Amino acid sequence: MVEEELEKFEKKIRGKHSTVYVLGDRAVKVFKRDLSYNFWKEVAFLSYLQPRGFVPKIYTIQPSSLSITMEYIDGENIGELAKSGELSAKMVIDCLDVCRTLDTLMIQKEEMSRPEKHIIFRNGRPYFIDFERSVITPKPANVTQFTGYLIKKFKIESGLTDMVKEYKKRFDEASYSELRSNLMRVLRSVL
Ligand SMILES: Nc1ncnc2c1ncn2[C@@H]1O[C@H](COP(=O)(O)OP(=O)(O)OP(=O)(O)O)[C@@H](O)[C@H]1O
Ligand SMILES: [Mg+2]
Repeated sequence: MVEEELEKFEKKIRGKHSTVYVLGDRAVKVFKRDLSYNFWKEVAFLSYLQPRGFVPKIYTIQPSSLSITMEYIDGENIGELAKSGELSAKMVIDCLDVCRTLDTLMIQKEEMSRPEKHIIFRNGRPYFIDFERSVITPKPANVTQFTGYLIKKFKIESGLTDMVKEYKKRFDEASYSELRSNLMRVLRSVL
């Protein structure tokens, strides 16, 4: 896509690594020229995760301009929802389940300790965006980072830190389930 066409877009969002142009239900993420590795990583992870339903649909990729045309998720991010008091415990747990899925797929999204702009809710469902920094690793820390964020943000503890440590060590369904149900209980008292 040429620069003049992109200028017609309704909204232009400048990220640190890219500019995102929005038109209707589409977002075009154009990476900075020297960030082709980030571009290819985002293409790879978004493509791999397409069937899962928690990432934007990809429409086209254009390697020559390092751009990805994807579905624009018209919603509110988790930071905005927390601020306006519209975030429920169930919505947070849905995000935690996405983190667990990423953990089991061995994808470390990165920056899940600062997820505020990168989880967008539309019709009550979470979508995760921005996978340019993601890596494959045998023990990803999506669940642990996201829980750490929640503990700090909502000033909750109630033994959660120990449960996170146990999850980190065992990484199995039982320790995840223990963490999940306790987090749900604690969140219900604050959200
Ligand atoms: N598919 C999408 N649907 C809705 N909004 C999007 C989408 N992709 C990007 N955005 C918006 O554009 C912003 C920047 O996108 P993104 O985080 O992918 O770019 P970035 O250059 O990696 O930015 P950063 O340096 O902040 O990580 C997001 O915070 C979000 O507001
Ligand atoms: Mg980014």
